[in-house]
Amino acid sequence: MNSFIRHRRLRRNDAIRTMIREHHVRVDDLIYPLFVVEGKGMKNEIHSMPGIYQYSLDQLETELNELMQLGILSIMVFGVPLEKDEQGSQAYHSHGIVQEAIRWIKERFPQFYVIADTCLCQYTSHGHCGVVENGEVLNDPSLSLLAATAVSQAEAGADMIAPSNMMDGFVAEIRLALDQHGYEHIPILSYAVKYASGYYGPFRDAAQSKPQFGDRRSYQMDPANAREAMREATSDIAEGADLLMVKPGLAYLDIIYRVREAFSLPIVAYNVSGEYAMVKAAAKEGWIDERKVVEETLVGFKRAGADLILTYHAKDMANWLKG
Ligand code: PBG
Ligand code: ZN
Repeated sequence: MNSFIRHRRLRRNDAIRTMIREHHVRVDDLIYPLFVVEGKGMKNEIHSMPGIYQYSLDQLETELNELMQLGILSIMVFGVPLEKDEQGSQAYHSHGIVQEAIRWIKERFPQFYVIADTCLCQYTSHGHCGVVENGEVLNDPSLSLLAATAVSQAEAGADMIAPSNMMDGFVAEIRLALDQHGYEHIPILSYAVKYASGYYGPFRDAAQSKPQFGDRRSYQMDPANAREAMREATSDIAEGADLLMVKPGLAYLDIIYRVREAFSLPIVAYNVSGEYAMVKAAAKEGWIDERKVVEETLVGFKRAGADLILTYHAKDMANWLKG
């Protein structure tokens, strides 16, 4: 060989490989999604998401103890209500399922950092993230409902508000309402860059939030667009977002990278339901090594520039990190 350069010198054994490793996933980087339902004695596995369940409140204790043992202390709570209506009124009801769940958790497990997903789609009979009129999802009339949802979640004790609805101006409206109600200290994690994606299928089973007509392309982004992601992030920052979400994760690592390069806010990657389902299905068939694939995926998010990862794999990953 006619060169002094040998890259393999730094790959010879575990010791040196560990020493020069550039990125790491820590348990503190992980946020675990939690689905809560009304009723008693419910622990329903989601068919397309093995290992992920809908819990009624009386089943939460075991689950939260397990998370605590694993060191996962931040959770994103999604409510799945029994009753849906045109206006999604259960989303902002003070005794709605998500408000009750947040109250329940903060009373008994105050050490958890509870992030509330703020949207209407689980709560509306038409399954859209805003108010619908003549088959159209209206922007401005949706904002006050979203703001009311955020305030009711803060009242219940949420530590952070995470609006995922993709209406224009939702961050400003929610910020204003939170401040007016004395919640100026509650941060907003904006789902700033959210694509109209096929990867959300299993989540819509879990949250029962499938649109009953049409799709979400009039509010969620076109997967072909990257510059537009910069505009979304810019406006959300101007409106007062404290953290930015990019969603989905895997097919959008370039977007995570661009947002990381252009802005200084913490970035959260959402490793969504379809990404989880594909890994689980292939692993079950023995076609991939689940641990290797998940570790590689999660460190990929960190390498792309994400600070935090919202992932259904959080419990498995935390277990592997324990060694
Ligand atoms: C909508 C919402 C979606 C997800 C969470 N909240 C997407 C959608 O239904 O359009 C998807 C999360 C996942 O797939 O894991 N507010
Ligand atoms: Zn929604």
